[in-house]
Amino acid sequence: MREQWNTKLGFLLAAIGSAVGLGNIWRFPYIAAQNGGGAFLLPYFFAIITAGIPILILEYTLGKTYKAGAPVTLARINKKFEWLGWFQVMVAFMISVYYFAIIVWVVSYIGFSATQAWGTDPTGFFVEYLGLTNSAIELGGIQTNLIIPFIIVWAVSAFILYRGVSKGIEMVCKICLPVLFILIAILVIRGITLPGAADGLEYMFAPNWAALAKPGVWVAAYGQIFFSLSIAFAIMISYSSYLPKETDVVNSAFITATANHGFEVFAGIGVFSIMGYMALMQGVPVEEIAKAGVGLAFMTFPAAISSLPALNGFFGVCFFGALLTAGITSLISIMQAVITGIEDKFNMPHKKAVTTVIVPAFIVSILFITGAGLNILDIVDAFINNIGIAGAGLLEVVLIGWFFDTEKLRQEANSFSNFSIGRWWVYSLKIITVVVLGVMVFLNTKDYLMNGYGGYAALDIAIFGWGTMFVVVVISAVLTSMKGKEGYIDLNKVSRKEVA
Ligand code: ALA
Repeated sequence: MREQWNTKLGFLLAAIGSAVGLGNIWRFPYIAAQNGGGAFLLPYFFAIITAGIPILILEYTLGKTYKAGAPVTLARINKKFEWLGWFQVMVAFMISVYYFAIIVWVVSYIGFSATQAWGTDPTGFFVEYLGLTNSAIELGGIQTNLIIPFIIVWAVSAFILYRGVSKGIEMVCKICLPVLFILIAILVIRGITLPGAADGLEYMFAPNWAALAKPGVWVAAYGQIFFSLSIAFAIMISYSSYLPKETDVVNSAFITATANHGFEVFAGIGVFSIMGYMALMQGVPVEEIAKAGVGLAFMTFPAAISSLPALNGFFGVCFFGALLTAGITSLISIMQAVITGIEDKFNMPHKKAVTTVIVPAFIVSILFITGAGLNILDIVDAFINNIGIAGAGLLEVVLIGWFFDTEKLRQEANSFSNFSIGRWWVYSLKIITVVVLGVMVFLNTKDYLMNGYGGYAALDIAIFGWGTMFVVVVISAVLTSMKGKEGYIDLNKVSRKEVA
């Protein structure tokens, strides 16, 4: 018998736990800032409605109907689609290893917060803490100060994953989500009551219509939605495969999306208020502060924490504690997507599948605690998100939208839902999402081919950018070609007639 979530609420908490992650607290503010601040919100909401929610409904419907991780689900639809499932799984694998590294830094920073160990130069402190080298290929050796948090995060993740979906993941999400909400609420209240907060919020919400004419802003909005909602990289198909067939997926998708994006904007209010305060303290425009990019959490925020009038250590622990609780529930979902993929195709016992996935993940993740970790992470994150996830999403909507009877899936989704989805769903998937993602993959690929990325040397980009994509494509092909457990393509217990 396939494992199931204990309750629908348990599933929803796990799905929201997956969606709400580092992407909401750490990525959203700087992506919004780099793309016109308030101007970003319009494409962002447009992307939620045209791609985020429709794809979430699609993935929930696929998972609960075909009862398998992404590769087997897609193979059950059409054997030729299996490769895409593995591609999504491999994208998840790559994300998991660098996501892991960020959580390792977060754990260290919870400790540093207590005494504001970063002193008066948080940027210099972070660079020193990482033993940061000048490029992605100059590894600089494993940083010994990262080993203990590295082992702690691995031990906790492995423990949760070995316990399985209902006893491990569901339980952890039930604890982490309320804690996360309280921590963020504390930060938001602190943030909005600081001088300068209004400038930060104005920057976050004031529309800048001119930015809407830039295709890059739209591309960034779609990219953020995919990462943030955990769609197109195997997670939501995996999670919903542990649901009973009678689940109302339409309402589940709306609840997940509303909670995730509501939380994202809520956390954004706290982060932008604090950025407004920093700008006031330093006498610079908010834009200047917001441009910190990847360093926002580990350079800008420590500085902000130190400059608060009181309770600095407490607010530091709240901020990094929020990153930890949000991050861990997402990290385990990303790894579970890979585990479900392996477990279902090879009919492996759960514990063996966990070991099969975490051993290579452990080895690869060591790269990120070397001195080159941050540089490698930056390159891999850009390629995996902007080409990998976008490409996986594009193939998903093209294959399912154009080569499968989407109308049947719509009826399947509606048959157990209180609120029925109309034909807009089919058109959003088949037309709008296909066009936007097509343009996105094309523009991003062209940009990286012509300009490289982030000023890194061509060799660094070749190895960690294109090299990562190459490895993902090849391993997906190898896994597709491997012989699965006999009959893995067949819907043994679920009748194919039910959906097609
Ligand atoms: N959805 C997860 C996040 O936002 C991956 O961080």
